Amino acid sequence: MKRVVVTGAAGFIGSHFTKHLLQSHSDVNIICIDSLTYAGNFDNLKGEIKDPRLIFYKADILNKREIFEIFSRENPDTVINFAAESHVDRSIKDPEIFMNTNVMGVQNLLEACRECPVERFHQISTDEVYGDLTLDSHGKLFSENSILAPSGVYSASKASADLLALSYCKTYGIPVTVSRGANTYGPNQYPEKLIPLMIYRAMKNKSLPLYGKGINVRDWISVKDHCRGIVAVAERGRSGEIYNIGCGCEIDNITLVKRILDILGKPYSLIEFVEDRKGHDLRYAMDSTKAQKEIGWKALDDFDETFEKTVKWYAENKNWSEKIFSGEYLKLYKTDYSEYVLSV
Ligand code: NAD
Ligand code: DAU
Repeated sequence: MKRVVVTGAAGFIGSHFTKHLLQSHSDVNIICIDSLTYAGNFDNLKGEIKDPRLIFYKADILNKREIFEIFSRENPDTVINFAAESHVDRSIKDPEIFMNTNVMGVQNLLEACRECPVERFHQISTDEVYGDLTLDSHGKLFSENSILAPSGVYSASKASADLLALSYCKTYGIPVTVSRGANTYGPNQYPEKLIPLMIYRAMKNKSLPLYGKGINVRDWISVKDHCRGIVAVAERGRSGEIYNIGCGCEIDNITLVKRILDILGKPYSLIEFVEDRKGHDLRYAMDSTKAQKEIGWKALDDFDETFEKTVKWYAENKNWSEKIFSGEYLKLYKTDYSEYVLSV
């Protein structure tokens, strides 16, 4: 990886990945592409934006002209696609943009790779494409060969993108890999997702809305481990292959939320059970043996330690979230960072 396009670089995982790549690869040049939707936050890249190895384009993967122009100008050898609409609750309320960004946007990127050949197109996918497991299915795990059975529009759009990318590999010979990541936690996650939302509400002594009975189970992976997994797949994964990136750290929502309250020293009485999410998946759990055996990746972070650090990060970085709640973060690319923003 020498000239790497990272789409969705101002989002949660994309920004951590950008940081990780700059730290781990001295000879890399990163071409960030992000349209800065509500989920894109320039503050997530504040430590990296001045690095001469990085450039940032405010551009939309749905805009074919912009994407083709950037690819022909920058001549990347690798593309890592994080750009997506990523929040399940939003996909239930407003499904259309999910199919557009998560499927048609991916097709535009793949078409750009046909025009300007790359050595690797890596699609960031999710464990949600497999649908869910029952709560009493202890020990049962999804493998890369499990059938695709998405429950909602978000996961259906991600499954579609996986199939599309792999079809471009077979038909046009574009070297494609797909990684399916588990629920990811760490600093800089937009506060609509379970962990940051609950932290902020607890800090303000507001009620914590748990869907249904709070018994749904997720497999939580640290954002660092997820990023290391993505690098491993993009560099060492075989073209045309899918790799699960999970860590086997299964926790139900109510237990997780109680941990947050314990770390913050807040009472459990803040928890409020609310109406369940439509089509709410019960349990996600993946077998990541393939990644371990073929490319030598496995999760390294200790959950208890990393989770506590994460909760404390949000408590200590209230300024980061205040800019989100006030809407100030949406203007940062025009104010604090305008000199670093390229357009086509
Ligand atoms: P995020 O919502 O925090 O960030 C998405 C980024 O994509 C934002 O910066 C946004 O501005 C950008 N974007 C959205 N639409 C765009 C468009 N049309 N053109 C250019 N940029 C656009 O998401 P995240 O949680 O960091 O997830 C990143 C990827 O990882 C997604 O593909 C998601 O499906 C996948 N994933 C996420 C998790 C998780 O737990 N967060 C787990 C597994 C997989
Ligand atoms: O599994 C990977 C997926 O994890 C990613 O592909 C998605 O992009 C990412 O958003 C995440 O999806 P989830 O739906 O699992 O994450 P979310 O944080 O929205 O919810 C986690 C669990 O918490 C889920 O069971 C729903 C529940 N929940 C969530 C919110 C926001 C609540 O009970 N209350 C809430 O307010």
